[in-house]
Order: sequence, then C-alpha cells, then structure tokens
Amino acid sequence: MASQLNGKVALVTGGSSGIGLATAKRFAAEGAIVYITGRKQDALDKAVAEIGGKVVAIRADSSIVADLERVYATIRDKSGRLDVLFANAGIAAFVPLPAITEEHYDSIVDTNLKGVVFTVKYAVPLLSEGASIILTSSTAGYKGMEAFSVYSATKAAIRQLARGWLLDLKAKKIRVNVISPGMVDTPAIDGLVGDPNAAAGMKAHVASQIPLGRIAQPGDIAAVAVFLSSDEAAYINGVELPVDGGASQI
Ligand SMILES: NC(=O)c1ccc[n+]([C@@H]2O[C@H](COP(=O)([O-])OP(=O)(O)OC[C@H]3O[C@@H](n4cnc5c(N)ncnc54)[C@H](OP(=O)(O)O)[C@@H]3O)[C@@H](O)[C@H]2O)c1
Repeated sequence: MASQLNGKVALVTGGSSGIGLATAKRFAAEGAIVYITGRKQDALDKAVAEIGGKVVAIRADSSIVADLERVYATIRDKSGRLDVLFANAGIAAFVPLPAITEEHYDSIVDTNLKGVVFTVKYAVPLLSEGASIILTSSTAGYKGMEAFSVYSATKAAIRQLARGWLLDLKAKKIRVNVISPGMVDTPAIDGLVGDPNAAAGMKAHVASQIPLGRIAQPGDIAAVAVFLSSDEAAYINGVELPVDGGASQI
C-alpha cells in the first residue's frame, strides 16, 4: 500500500508518550515529517530515537502560549507549513468533588482546554488548504465518571470546539475531527492510580465491561489518527469518533 501521509508535515502535541508517541511513529512510517512536543526533554529524546524517520522534537508546554509560538516559529522556519495537527497533549487525575482544589482545576484546564485552544489558534497561519486537525477528547467527555469531573468537562468542551472551528476554518477547507478513546493502556493510566497492582486491576475490570474484551493499545488510536489525517478521510469533517471497543454504545 502507498504511504498515506507521504510528504505531509504533521505536529503531534504530547508526542513523547502513549497515544501521541504511537501516532508519531505511524505518521513517520506513513511518510510524514513529524514534529512532536512534550515538557520533558529526556522523554522527547527517547521518543525521537524510537520514532525514527523524519522527526523533530520541540520541548514545549501546551498551556504556555509563548511555548506554542516558539513551536510554530520552528515549524515555519524548517517546513514552511503544517498539513496535519494532532492536538493530543493532555493530563488526568482522579479527584472527587470535595477534594477539588484551585490547583487541580487550573492544571487540568490549562493543559486540556486552554492548551488545545491555543495549540490550534497559533497553528492557523501555517495550516495548508485542506489540512486535517484532530483533537483528542475521551469517552469521559459524555459519560459520568466518579472523581473525574474536571477532566471530563475539559473533554466535553473539546467536542464543542471542533464544531465551532470547522466553521471558522472553512475558507481553507480545513477538516476538524475528534477522537474519543475509551481506556488506553498508556503511562497516564498507571499514573492515575499510582500503584501498579491497582492499575492492573482497574484495567482488567474495565476490559471486562468492553464488548471487544480488552482495553485499547495506543496503536488502536494511532491507526484512526492516520486515517483521519489521510486523503481517504477527505470528506469526514466535524465528527467525534469513539475508539472504545463499543463500550460507550451499550
Ligand atoms: N490513556 C487513556 O485511557 C486515555 C483515554 C481517553 C483520552 N485520553 C487522552 O489522550 C491524550 C494522550 O494521553 P495518553 O494516555 O497518551 O497520556 P501519556 O502517555 O501520559 O502522554 C501524554 C503526553 O502529553 C504530554 N503532555 C502532558 N501535558 C503536557 C503539556 N502541558 N504540554 C505539552 N505536552 C504535555 C506528555 O509529555 P510531558 O509529560 O513530558 O509533558 C506526554 O507526551 C490525552 O489528551 C488524554 O486525556 C487518554
């Protein structure tokens, strides 16, 4: 099969781990020039070695506008345009309502909502005609989950950003789509509960509730990101695609 993203210029925010890393690998394997971001330089260096292909890492925090401006200045200088934007960087924490602090609220909202808004806003001048923007939401954006309300609210907001932006960007025929994974086996899940045994128990419990009998691997989400970025998805615009083994449909 021909490479699906040959010569395209792509940015994956949060490309040093989990879903973003798996997607950056697939983008590079499909012929794209891939830029990745993350806050930790050591994780970015490891990711670059793992991804192979044409990849450039830029240390940047999505919640800081000056960092985003620097990311796009680098892409403009090196590549001159952007064809695919995967606004994926995100963080999560279990905090029940009585324990929500201003710090928890700010950290989740700054990365998951403010970060996505300004990641896309500052990309606009570089986006080519017909570019593809993909936002990472979550099935938590439309299901109630205990101790997850602030995270869930940011993910619900992502869906609505996409609806507005496909209109704001229609003059350049830019598509904006949303991927909503269910549970994916990434370091974020282990970090949510801390203890590895508890994390394994939670993954097994969630897997038992999923019609396909397993939680997702990062590559399951990366495959969908490749499709939505490719010309095969040229007429798909504004959708939210749950990638959850059917869990949210029952
Ligand atoms: N895993 C799941 O079950 C699941 C389910 C639904 C949706 N999601 C969503 O999928 C996305 C990726 O999650 P994941 O599970 O792949 O998590 P992960 O393995 O923890 O990876 C998160 C990535 O985002 C980066 N990141 C975090 N905050 C950042 C910030 N402020 N600025 C720049 N980069 C930042 C991290 O690098 P640094 O820490 O070095 O910055 C890392 O590269 C998130 O939006 C998450 O909400 C995950």
